[in-house]
Amino acid sequence: MKKDSKFIPFALPDIGDEEIQAVVKSMKSGWLTTGPVTKKFEAEFAKFISVDECLAVSSATAGLHLALQAINLQKNDTVLIPVNTFVATAEVVRYFDAHPVFIDIDFDTMNISIDYLTAYLENNDTSNIKAIIPVHIAGQACDMDEILKLAKKYNLFVIEDAAHAFPCKYKNQMIGSLQSDFTVYSFYATKTITTGEGGMLVARNKKHLSLIKKLRLHGISREIWDRYTSNKAHWHYDVDVLGYKYNLSDLCSSIGREQLKKANHFFNKRNSIAQKYNQAFKHLDIILPQQKREDDQHAWHLYLIRTKNRDQILKFLKEKGIGTSLHFIPLHLMTYYQELYHHKEDDFTIAMKSFSQLISLPIYTKMSDENIDYVISSLIEACSL
Ligand SMILES: Cc1ncc(COP(=O)(O)O)c(C=O)c1O
Repeated sequence: MKKDSKFIPFALPDIGDEEIQAVVKSMKSGWLTTGPVTKKFEAEFAKFISVDECLAVSSATAGLHLALQAINLQKNDTVLIPVNTFVATAEVVRYFDAHPVFIDIDFDTMNISIDYLTAYLENNDTSNIKAIIPVHIAGQACDMDEILKLAKKYNLFVIEDAAHAFPCKYKNQMIGSLQSDFTVYSFYATKTITTGEGGMLVARNKKHLSLIKKLRLHGISREIWDRYTSNKAHWHYDVDVLGYKYNLSDLCSSIGREQLKKANHFFNKRNSIAQKYNQAFKHLDIILPQQKREDDQHAWHLYLIRTKNRDQILKFLKEKGIGTSLHFIPLHLMTYYQELYHHKEDDFTIAMKSFSQLISLPIYTKMSDENIDYVISSLIEACSL
């Protein structure tokens, strides 16, 4: 096959002059680290998702870590997570010498299976289980009513890993504004809005919120920028907990504020690509993303298909110059977790079946109509071979 000269990357950030000017302004302001711009970004993000307050953090991984610290996760506690997720969801549990318990997924949505979650809770000693971390894979909301019901029954915290889920709705309600204890977003370079690296955290409980406010900046009892800029400020602060360096800089927040202004426009573009793909691929012998509830809003961070000829199609698309990816390699296959928990491959049959068929296609706002059409015609060609 003739190699095509054009290359369509799997993902690209959408950074305009507005973001560049905002960073320049921030640099000229004399305040580079966490300060007034981050405060504004937090307030604007909170308004967008209809909550009172949000905390900017240096990454979603940091946010998940802080949430687990706030619930006082202890050595040998366990946390239930889907087996099909990025390793960050599990590694934060291991930071405490606690254990992630992998739960198989629902084949259709690729989110944590409510049936397997229920079965695990019914058939195991639940005294060490502290939390569930549902992950809204690709930007499709988990069945949060069922998860919250189980959490209530077994007295577990719910920490939503919303790294893919902005702006995402569950039953017409913004993810982040549900009754979970925490929701954590990612602004990593490939996400639906980006700050390069960064994240945002929502905590329902005010005590958790004020604790995390301290924990994200060394455990310091006052906000650092207040200490240097306020008329009333003086040198004194206290540290009464062990903290971390997980704050988000004003440089990053200045990008975030501009990205947030474009979030609806970005969503519309991603949604229109997804609808084009859905329409173009509906007669192919592949499994398309399946949305189960009509009143949800898929954030379309990723467009995941399943096909029996996965490897052949991946190879074909690569030769066509189309970047693809795969979300995710189930965590029980990773050497670190294999050595720790000795899972067998078929301990998670649904995740394994899904993984063997999985392809992530490019979906991002910088794709031109020509790019989209090229991906469509190439996949149709690949499926006809
Ligand atoms: C499901 C999931 N959770 C957490 C993360 C971690 O995000 P961050 O890179 O902001 O730490 C990612 C990153 O891609 C992810 O996909």
